[in-house]
Amino acid sequence: MKNVITYINSNNNRYISELKDFLRIPSISITLKHKKDMIKSADFVAKKLKEAGIQKVKVIKTKGNPLVYAEWLGAPGKPTVLIYGHYDVQPVDPLELWDTPPFDPTVKNGKIYARGATDDKGQIFMHIKSVEAFLKTAGKLPLNIKFVIEGEEEIGSRNLQNFVNKNSKLLKCDAILISDTALFGPGIPTITYGLRGIAYMEIEVTGPNRDLHSGTFGGAVANPINILAGMISKLMNKDGHITIPGFYDDVIKITKSEKENIKKLKFSEKNYAKTLGVKELKGEKTYSTLERTWIRPTLDCNGIIGGFTDKGAKTVIPSKVTAKISMRLVPNQDPIKIAKLFTKYIKQITPKSVTVKVNDLHGGYPIVVSLNDKATIAASKAIARAFGKKTVFMREGGSIPIVITFAKKLKASPVLMGLGLNTENLHSPNEHFNLNHFHLGILSSAFFFDEFSK
Ligand code: BES
Ligand code: MN
Ligand code: MN
Repeated sequence: MKNVITYINSNNNRYISELKDFLRIPSISITLKHKKDMIKSADFVAKKLKEAGIQKVKVIKTKGNPLVYAEWLGAPGKPTVLIYGHYDVQPVDPLELWDTPPFDPTVKNGKIYARGATDDKGQIFMHIKSVEAFLKTAGKLPLNIKFVIEGEEEIGSRNLQNFVNKNSKLLKCDAILISDTALFGPGIPTITYGLRGIAYMEIEVTGPNRDLHSGTFGGAVANPINILAGMISKLMNKDGHITIPGFYDDVIKITKSEKENIKKLKFSEKNYAKTLGVKELKGEKTYSTLERTWIRPTLDCNGIIGGFTDKGAKTVIPSKVTAKISMRLVPNQDPIKIAKLFTKYIKQITPKSVTVKVNDLHGGYPIVVSLNDKATIAASKAIARAFGKKTVFMREGGSIPIVITFAKKLKASPVLMGLGLNTENLHSPNEHFNLNHFHLGILSSAFFFDEFSK
């Protein structure tokens, strides 16, 4: 291990400069506009895996963005880890709120600023670089490695779902290592043992067959925006409880011991509110903030499109309005069932004065991993070794829909060893990644290979 660590330490600057090359590619998956950049990004990952010393690397075409598969199986009899991550990134809007251009990576105060820095390019790169350190020093790894890096995580991983379902032999492994989550706080080694699921819906409300003058027609027909706003407000009561019938039926209640463990974590609701710039925190009654975001399901409107939104004042009753609504789910809620309950309830509360259409955009299952799992134990030892501190365990409010598919299909347990921070502006302007965590993440990855091979 000594040579591996020395290599990682002495190549740090080059690692950062290569990460910058990766971050310059605008691999935004939500539109088709960046098709070429998706291919460029996949090719970049493949090239870096080859440069790390892995010979078997493939860029695999899908109906959507390509995925990168690589394997190094030179340790027969030893366990196999599958490393998963995503090279696609979120859109950059609102662009004017970025201090430096999103695809011109800039280092300031030990942090690298760019879209995708923490979610998830910087974190994928840690594993590629720890593999490089082993292969360039020892010429081998202490266990077998497979990589699956996709380009559609931010849009629901549909093509990877298909790929995993069809290729369970190819992907056979003993653990799935994922760095796409956050540390509990700066400098705190963390393993995440739970992710929420998601059901992402769209509601279209249509009123009159065309936009109308709001003076001439105001008072004659229902305004779709007014109606939709009223419908949205019916989805939750004043206690923050979701009112969709059956919504909570499959929710597993938090155990006493988990509640106590969460309470033990050093977390200040006051500081949290302050960093978010809000006067008070708000959520489901009788639960703490960590409980509300980790172990309770939630519902949020993500956007409303409709009516006149330009500068100035245009008097109009819009013909149509759309709302995007996502629900975060916890075990054992099923996104398909939740989507059906949502659709049924929306139809039920839609007044006769408008018509409604509900679309199910995508979904993902929640997951909770056992803390007694071998890979989880190895990861908690590894990250503690890198940071020189005791590991803490947390759950996460975000979702990574492919994780449950991997776990079920490959019958291997996922390990969420993320090095990001929830304050690193993922999905938001000025996304960044702490370069000290990047470095410690490369060491954690190397220590994981060591620990898990034993
Ligand atoms: N890396 C995130 C998940 C995440 C978010 C982990 C926050 C830790 C903290 C992932 O890239 C993501 O954004 N997932 C989406 C999934 C969705 C698009 C299906 C999410 O959670 O919104
Ligand atoms: Mn991510
Ligand atoms: Mn993301």
